[in-house]
Amino acid sequence: MDEKIKKISTGISGLDDMLYGGLPLKSQVIVAGGPGAGKTLLSFEYLYRNAKAGIPSTFIALEESADAIIRNAKEVFTTFTDIDDLIESNMLIIDGREPSIKLREQSDSDAYSFGNIVSDIESVITDSKSRCIAVDSISLLRLMMGNDISYRRSLLALTSNLRRLNVTSLLTVEIPSSDRDKLRFEPEFFIFDGIIVLYQNSEVDKRTLTAEIVKMRGSNHSNMLAPYEITNSGFKIYTLTQDGEM
Ligand SMILES: Nc1ncnc2c1ncn2[C@@H]1O[C@H](COP(=O)(O)OP(=O)(O)OP(=O)(O)O)[C@@H](O)[C@H]1O
Ligand SMILES: [Mg+2]
Repeated sequence: MDEKIKKISTGISGLDDMLYGGLPLKSQVIVAGGPGAGKTLLSFEYLYRNAKAGIPSTFIALEESADAIIRNAKEVFTTFTDIDDLIESNMLIIDGREPSIKLREQSDSDAYSFGNIVSDIESVITDSKSRCIAVDSISLLRLMMGNDISYRRSLLALTSNLRRLNVTSLLTVEIPSSDRDKLRFEPEFFIFDGIIVLYQNSEVDKRTLTAEIVKMRGSNHSNMLAPYEITNSGFKIYTLTQDGEM
């Protein structure tokens, strides 16, 4: 049955192996991790690789400006020398609407609302005919919504909208990095098709990074924790077989 599912390559070294080929087409997948785990860079690389392969891709930055996203990506991924060309040709769109700034500026009743965010996202995707999307990050929505019910309702509205637009998305979310077991019970995670988690484990003299696929609806995937590095030529995720072989 698994063979019939259409998949889209993430283009990220090791991640497609963990996903047994790639992300299921039109799935809405969250990338969860602690601060600095690499959520923004991983979702950027997913779009960069697909844009390079000729698939229009849009990065929706909710917490940082487009310039900041591009600047950081160029600083880390020094071998991605064609970022500007892809942006110039509209194959890669970095949309920095910064609703967090708008929210700060308008604390009165006609505040920039969640409804505006969803319709903004929809028009960017429709105009650019993008097929791959990153939304960075949805943690902002929790701050905006005030209570859990509105937050879950807003997540549902966002994901059903993305589904309707037929895009394959990575949506980043911040979690406390140590909460590995508790994470599975977060109710808002159940509405997504997939969950990729980036863990940071503190050891005495270093921090190790590992990735895990917690779920991926309709597709088999690796259940192993995979160490990863962020290098100047992109993420390197080291996948192991069930027997522990590299
Ligand atoms: N030049 C570099 N080379 C390699 N890795 C780097 C470099 N600069 C930053 N990094 C790594 O990238 C991480 C930041 O990645 P990213 O911004 O994607 O994290 P994030 O999970 O989105 O963080 P946040 O929660 O703050 O948004 C840093 O913690 C660091 O480990
Ligand atoms: Mg980030």
